[in-house]
Amino acid sequence: MDPIISVRNLNKIYSSGFQALNDVSVDIHRGEIFALLGPNGAGKTTLISVICGITNPSSGEVIADGVNIVKDFRAARKLIGLVPQELTTDAFESVWATVNFSRGLFGKAPDPAYIERILRSLSLWDKKDNRIMELSGGMKRRVLIAKALSHEPKILFLDEPTAGVDVELRRDMWELVRKLRDEGVTIILTTHYIEEAEEMADRIGVISKGRIVLVEDKTALMNQLGKKQLTLHLQQPLEAVPEELSEYELELTEEGHSLVYTFDVHASETGIGEILRKLNDRGIDFKDLKSTQSSLEEIFVDLVRSAHEKEVVGA
Ligand SMILES: Nc1ncnc2c1ncn2[C@@H]1O[C@H](COP(=O)(O)OP(=O)(O)OP(=O)(O)O)[C@@H](O)[C@H]1O
Ligand SMILES: [Mg+2]
Repeated sequence: MDPIISVRNLNKIYSSGFQALNDVSVDIHRGEIFALLGPNGAGKTTLISVICGITNPSSGEVIADGVNIVKDFRAARKLIGLVPQELTTDAFESVWATVNFSRGLFGKAPDPAYIERILRSLSLWDKKDNRIMELSGGMKRRVLIAKALSHEPKILFLDEPTAGVDVELRRDMWELVRKLRDEGVTIILTTHYIEEAEEMADRIGVISKGRIVLVEDKTALMNQLGKKQLTLHLQQPLEAVPEELSEYELELTEEGHSLVYTFDVHASETGIGEILRKLNDRGIDFKDLKSTQSSLEEIFVDLVRSAHEKEVVGA
């Protein structure tokens, strides 16, 4: 399948001399929800700004739906809707005027029925005549989404769309994003709520210090890297892991008071029964046991950490 966005060897060095993007290449598939994750300052907003033609790349190329975003900025920009991270709105205008005006900016003929539909789907209809300054923070963010959708873009960028949005509204927004995807819009979002990516994304890209460290199908990522752990709190501390259990991935923690078993979430045979039997045979008792499963959050933290370690080792 041909990608809707193709990013090739992108570098961005700001005038301060700071390199915010380092040889970034990534393809966005047509019709997918792609979540871009990375710590503060990783380069997410910079990457989005370059793809949207707001910031010029230092080198490299971006093609959006066959259009070069630098050489043919206007045509490319028409395809794209952007919900920026920063709240910037014209405080004195009404919601209705702001969103309508936005559509006009992209050379689209007025379509009040369409604007009504997006305002309704964002639960902004009853605020349509209010001035932006009269809205709450979460509502202002929804106005930004309405503006981004006003010209019916094929590609929608959401840079932290749910920052400062309450849980219920966040769920509504996820639903809206899914609906847009079902209508054929390709969606790229950044978020610091990992559960949001876990919930929504088809694929996940991780960026750290200006480099893409991973792009993976979400389900595959969680299957590959997802681990489960069983922790046994022992009655008596152990000096070492018993020899007859050496074939298992066992580790003593808390000065020998806990035995931690790490295993693959998807293994058909976990080995837990065998371990418990062998401990019993040895007369090793435990007070308590608990199991935990790694979330996308832990997977993400591990990835970013190991990317940094590699860099330190390589330096
Ligand atoms: N206009 C600018 N001039 C110089 N440096 C900049 C500029 N904009 C961003 N940077 C730097 O580039 C790096 C990446 O910033 P960017 O905003 O892309 O990060 P981010 O991944 O979006 O972070 P966050 O999660 O905090 O939004 C940061 O170190 C930032 O200080
Ligand atoms: Mg950002």
